[in-house]
Amino acid sequence: MSTQPAASPGSPEALTLTPVHPLFGARATGIDLRKPLGPGEKSQVKAAMDRYAVVVFPGQLMSDEEHAAFAEQFGTIEDTPTLVDQARRRLSNMRINDISNLGPDGKIWAPDDRRRMYNLGNLLWHSDSSFKPTPAYWSMLQAKTIPPHGGETEYVDTRVAWDHLPDALKAQARDLVALHSLIFSRAQLGFDAFSPEEIERCTPVRQRLVRLHPESGRLALYLSAHIGEIEGWPRPEAMALIRELTEFATQRQFVYQHRWSVGDLVIWDNRCTMHRGRRYDDKAYPRDMRRVTLADVAPTLEQPV
Ligand code: OGA
Ligand code: MN
Repeated sequence: MSTQPAASPGSPEALTLTPVHPLFGARATGIDLRKPLGPGEKSQVKAAMDRYAVVVFPGQLMSDEEHAAFAEQFGTIEDTPTLVDQARRRLSNMRINDISNLGPDGKIWAPDDRRRMYNLGNLLWHSDSSFKPTPAYWSMLQAKTIPPHGGETEYVDTRVAWDHLPDALKAQARDLVALHSLIFSRAQLGFDAFSPEEIERCTPVRQRLVRLHPESGRLALYLSAHIGEIEGWPRPEAMALIRELTEFATQRQFVYQHRWSVGDLVIWDNRCTMHRGRRYDDKAYPRDMRRVTLADVAPTLEQPV
């Protein structure tokens, strides 16, 4: 006979989950992510992620080192090379992606700074690092400083989109391979000031358009602003389909909008979600967000569907 362990001092703490949206997403309280997790806590976080895809942990303000140490318990941290101006980094910890509008001097970037133009790509619906051969698994974004208005982050679960997709579109999309590159997403906003060397580094990578989310056994649309082609298709026809699928996946009732509080840590599963930042007055207010990203285990075409 088994007994339910009672919560008592010294026993593993329990994660309390409250849905934040009817279709996916939850808010999680009850454990401190700054301390090494016990096996019970770790499996509760994993189970919450596999089910909800986006999990908000409020009140977890942590240092960059704590942030990376937390992340590492769940996988391998990606390198953080972005294309533009890595030499002028603000953060010394190379495992942190700087999602702020701040330079190394802590001041807001100039309006015409190239890094600002580049980072505006985060306003388009995307999945992190889909332009890498092995793309991202989880992203963990922490809010350190937030602006007084705007700057929310929106999410959709693309398993939900798949479930609702008309059968004819499912059949059309099912076996397609899309090409992803940072150049494609930046071009959508008219940013094309890439050097030949940068273009070279952004060779498009092939990814499945429909993938299996192994833990839930559900299929997911693998969409991203980084898509610029479908293999074997004329480009305008490809982009028209990608746009239709993206509009379908991001219809209003599928979207969870997260309004940040300082100390929130939001984790999302890039294998089955898309997200986008919302505009804010980034010329007037600092917004300091930091992300640690875990790499998936293999390119999507090497994963079973
Ligand atoms: C990211 C991202 C959007 C935002 O951190 O990957 O896309 O709202 N962020 O900052
Ligand atoms: Mn992102």
